[in-house]
Parts: sequence; structure tokens; C-alpha cells
Amino acid sequence: MKDDTKNATHPAEQAGNSIESLRKAAMSCRACPLWENATQTVFGEGPSHAPVMLVGEQPGDREDLTGHPFVGPAGQLLARALTAVGIPREEVYVTNAVKHFKFEIRGKRRMHKKPVDSEIAACYDWLRREIELVTPRLLIALGATAARSLLGRATPITVNRGKLREYASGVSLLITVHPSFLLRVPDRDKDDEYDRFVNDLKLARAFLD
Ligand code: URA
Repeated sequence: MKDDTKNATHPAEQAGNSIESLRKAAMSCRACPLWENATQTVFGEGPSHAPVMLVGEQPGDREDLTGHPFVGPAGQLLARALTAVGIPREEVYVTNAVKHFKFEIRGKRRMHKKPVDSEIAACYDWLRREIELVTPRLLIALGATAARSLLGRATPITVNRGKLREYASGVSLLITVHPSFLLRVPDRDKDDEYDRFVNDLKLARAFLD
């Protein structure tokens, strides 16, 4: 949650000054209970000084198993939308507000469960350090959890999406929907919602080098 006071006891503060050392330290994070049931920490990936950082909610089932962010169905949709606007995925940094998969078992399936505020807050120091080290010029909050983490308060996505706003000095913020929302909308709305998402992402093009 956006808060400029550093939490000196959080492991992210002891983790050194490179994204690699941060990633390594996050692997053994126990700052909230989510590590207990997850397979592994899923840390952000991308160029260490990417101009654009996309922030999702939390890893899903595929991400938890592979250890990479946005590789499951939502990630594939995101990749398709980035390609549609001419943003190479390998040029952006992709991460999540929460770095462990939260789920409940239903039958044989692990079903996504939304992280609560205390879990988002416990993970915020990792995200804050990622932003400090990568120094992106644009943050893209994908959905409500990412926006909540970055802004420190709940923000309605529908009224705030698709606009550039100042996040910090020299850093802009773009809020849009989470790609998993597009997977859930009724078929009749899918094309329109996808087009709106692509239109939002177009604003990111100007931030690429
Ligand atoms: N949803 C997210 O928010 N992040 C991922 O990495 C995958 C799905």
C-alpha cells in the first residue's frame, strides 16, 4: 500500500540493491501466511530498467507451478493485447501486488481466492522496492488489487481506467482492468471489453524507449 515510510523489519529492506538480490530474498518471504500453501514465490520479470511496469494481482495456478508471472490464460490474453498495441512483452517488467498464489481447493482444482488487505500490505514492500530499482516511467495497475496496492486505498476501476495520472515524480500511473476480467465477461461483451483494454494499453506506447 502506498506509504513512504519504510518498514525496516521487512525482508525487502534487507535484500540489497539489485533486482536479482530482491528476487532471491523474496523466495523465502514469510511476511504473511500465503507462502505455506503456495508452491513458490512468483517474483516480477523483465528488463531490470524497463520503462513500463505492469502490476497484476497475484500468481495463478500456472504461475505458481512454473514460478513465472502471467504465463496462464490471463497472461496469454495480456500478451495478445500487448502485441496488438505494438508493445513487445520482453520490453516491459511484469509483476504482481501479491507474490504467492492464494487459493482454495474445490474438488481437484485450486481456485483463485482474492488476497485481503493484510496480505496486500505484507507484500507491498517487495513491489515498492521493485519500483525503486527498476525505475519505470509508467506503472500499469491491472485491476483492483494492483490499484489498491499502488495507491494505498480502494479505487473504482471503471471510473479511473484509461487515464494517465501522476504516481510519483517522473512516474505515471495507468489503471485498467485485469485481463482475467476479460476471460469472465459474457461472450456478447468480450470483443468490446477487449477493445477497451487494448485502447487503455495504447497509452503505454509513448513510454517505451
Ligand atoms: N493473474 C495475475 O494477476 N497475475 C499473474 O501472474 C497471473 C494471473
